[in-house]
Amino acid sequence: MIRAKIGGIGHYVPERVVTNFDLEKVMETTDAWVQERTGIVERRYGKKHEETTTTMGARASEIAIARAGISKEDVDFIIFATLSPDYYFPGCGVLLQRELGITHNEMGCLDIRNQCSGFVYALSIADQFVKTGTYKNVLVVGAEMHSMGLDYTTRGRNVTVIFGDGAGAVVVQPANDPSKGILTCKLHANGTHAEELAFISPGAHGGYHGQEDSYGFPDDESFGGIFLTQKMMDDALTFPQMNGQLVFKTAVQKFPEVIMEALAEQGLDKKDIDMFIPHQANLRISQFVQKLLGLSDDKVYNNIQKYGNTTAASIPIALSEAWEAGKIKSGDLVCLAAFGAGFTWGSALMRWE
Ligand code: UT7
Repeated sequence: MIRAKIGGIGHYVPERVVTNFDLEKVMETTDAWVQERTGIVERRYGKKHEETTTTMGARASEIAIARAGISKEDVDFIIFATLSPDYYFPGCGVLLQRELGITHNEMGCLDIRNQCSGFVYALSIADQFVKTGTYKNVLVVGAEMHSMGLDYTTRGRNVTVIFGDGAGAVVVQPANDPSKGILTCKLHANGTHAEELAFISPGAHGGYHGQEDSYGFPDDESFGGIFLTQKMMDDALTFPQMNGQLVFKTAVQKFPEVIMEALAEQGLDKKDIDMFIPHQANLRISQFVQKLLGLSDDKVYNNIQKYGNTTAASIPIALSEAWEAGKIKSGDLVCLAAFGAGFTWGSALMRWE
C-alpha cells in the first residue's frame, strides 16, 4: 500500500511584531490579562496593501516545495485552508496558483473552510489523493491575514488579542518506506454551536439564523437581498464573535478524545507520541491536553507566545518550526490535533520519514 508523507514543510510570518502593550494603546486590555489567560506575548501583522493571505501562503509554499525536492511545476494539486481569504470568492487556491506562477499546469485547486481545524482537514484530503495514487505532489497550505478583519476597540478585545497573521505549507508525497508517513486522520464536527464562534456578515443568511430583520434585510417578496447593512456594521456583526468559555470547555474535551481515537485505531498509546503539535488556540488549552496525555515538555511544541492564534496556519507553522529546530526525527510518531469554529475538530498521526 502507498502511504502519504509530508515531504517538505515551510512557514512564513510577517515582519511586524505587535505586542500586548501595543494593543493596550487602542483598547482596554493589559499584557498581564492576555498572558495569564492565553500565554500570548506578541503576534505578527502582515503589511497592509502588500501582503495578503495568498502572498503569505505563497512564501511558505516556496520553502515547502524546495524542501520537498521538487520544483513548483511538479505540484499537481493545491489545497488551501483559511478563514480570512483575500476575496469572498474565488478562494485562495486559485490565487495561490497564480501567485506561484503555475497557472499553465491548470491543476485543481481546492479551498477548505474549516477554520482552526482547516489544516488537519486539508491534510486528510491530500493523504487520500496520494494514497490512491491520484496525485504525487499535493501542496497543502494554511494561511491567515486576521489583522485586516479584527475589531480594534474594547468591544472586540476578547477576540482581537488572540489572533495573528502567518502561513504554513507542506507538500504531501508518496512515502518511500511503507511503514512511515501519515497513519491516520480523524475528522469530526458538530454544528449545534455554529454561531458561538463565527464571522456572520457579510453573508447570505438574510436573517434566517436568528439575525433579526432589524438588521435591515429587505423582507418583501422582491428578488434580491443584501449581504451587508449599516446596522450589521454598527453592531459589529462584521467582526468575528466568540463565546470563549464554551469554546474553551469544548476544546479541552474534544482534543483528547480525537487524539485517543487515532491512537486506538493504530494500536498505539499516548506514551508512544514523540512530538505533539496542538493547534495554537490558547496555551492553557495546550497545557491542559499535554497534562492529560502525560507528555513531557520536550514532546510538545507551542509557539502561540510569539504568534498568537493563526487558525489554519498554526499547525503547519509550529510543525515547520519544530522540524527546523531538529525536534522531529525520522521514525518519530508525530501527532497533530485541532479544534475550532463549526465546531470542527480533528487529529492526524504520522510516522515521520
Ligand atoms: O482557535 C480556536 C478558537 N478559540 C479558542 O480556542 C479560544 C478559547 N477560549 C479562550 O481562550 C478564552 O475563553 C479567552 C482567552 C478568549 C477568554 O478568557 P476567559 O477566561 O474565558 O474570559 P471571559 O471571556 O470569561 O472574560 C472574563 C473577563 C470579562 O470581564 P467581566 O465580565 O468579568 O468584567 C471580559 O470582558 O475578562 C474580560 N476580557 C478582557 N479583559 C482584558 C475579555 N477580553 C479581555 C481582554 N483584556 N482582552
